[in-house]
Amino acid sequence: MSSFKTLDDIGDIRGKRVLVREDLNVPMDGARVTDDTRLRAAAPTIAELADKGAIVLILAHFGRPKGERRADMSLAQVTHALRDVLGREVTFVDDCQGEGAEQMVALLKPGAIAILENTRFHKGEEKNDPALVAAMAKLGDLYVNDAFSAAHRAHASTEGLAHALPAYAGRAMEAELTALEKALGKPEHPVAAVVGGAKVSSKLDVLRHLVAKVDHLIIGGGMANTFLAARGVDVGKSLCEHDLADTASAILDAADAANCTVHLPYDVVVAKEFRADPPTRTVNVHEVAADEMILDVGPAAVEALGDVLKNCRTLVWNGPMGAFETPPFDAATVSLARTAAALTQDGSLVSVAGGGDTVAALNQAGVAGDFSFVSTAGGAFLEWMEGKTLPGVAALER
Ligand code: 3PG
Repeated sequence: MSSFKTLDDIGDIRGKRVLVREDLNVPMDGARVTDDTRLRAAAPTIAELADKGAIVLILAHFGRPKGERRADMSLAQVTHALRDVLGREVTFVDDCQGEGAEQMVALLKPGAIAILENTRFHKGEEKNDPALVAAMAKLGDLYVNDAFSAAHRAHASTEGLAHALPAYAGRAMEAELTALEKALGKPEHPVAAVVGGAKVSSKLDVLRHLVAKVDHLIIGGGMANTFLAARGVDVGKSLCEHDLADTASAILDAADAANCTVHLPYDVVVAKEFRADPPTRTVNVHEVAADEMILDVGPAAVEALGDVLKNCRTLVWNGPMGAFETPPFDAATVSLARTAAALTQDGSLVSVAGGGDTVAALNQAGVAGDFSFVSTAGGAFLEWMEGKTLPGVAALER
């Protein structure tokens, strides 16, 4: 039995009003949703509840309006896209609380689906204000939280409501929690973590937590330069947080003490300018010239890292290995992601990825679908990798 209730525990919900917290915070270009991944992730829960005859009332935030009503952050803009993804009618209700919303909700029939307006139009949302919680709770009989990617926020719609109504995890939340438990909770060893991205400073807590949990820590991206510099390597003009040299050394020492092998690149791809397709050299890390910058992990290191993954049973991945948005500095990310995907498909590796740029990088490598699980979460995935308890998840615990 899982530690939280799921839709399997929900019983007969015909005619019941179910408040479903989803993450509809999707990127838009004008009126067009440019990436509907989160809408597709939300669809199974919404469809299942509607099929069971519930009145499905979707709560979500959109952007950071800070308690103001703003047309450019209205969830009305997402209604069409959700309708397209679901292939069902979706109504829009222009508030998530109050008499007007209550009257509109009262008109909905079993099986109906409605998006309620942006919860962050109310100041009480981010304050987890009991008055807003009570006002939203009046609209529903049950609460389902399906938004793992917003679960690091202790807000009225992500945390407060779980205490005000009988609370369940939706299918997307359930899938996230199950995958994350497999990856870091009770993983099969050896476990490898790939941590990349520009700056060490944004991932210090992640690294500190991981060295105690995983057998292999693979560090790539700009942050690897800080570790190389801490080990006395001259990284030339590379992006590097020199002031964090001591912190980086302390993390390396902690890894040693915990028997975690840290893998830093030993060959790298360098260029004198950061732009698409400049002249590049592939060199040993000790051969970076003063006017060059490291922009990707080199092919020899990538091959060796592939061998590390071949001996692992579990992989958790966050962040790109190089400046992957600018060719050819996507090569290491693409190559290592393809190795991980192939091992996953062969059944030898459980691979879980998430956070910020990671999904974009895996999509670019064409392998997002071949990982065991790719999280739709950004900040929440990172906080989970830091070992933090997410308030939205804790509130669902039995
Ligand atoms: C996200 O986009 O990562 C989530 O929707 C959370 O958004 P927030 O960082 O504005 O809380």
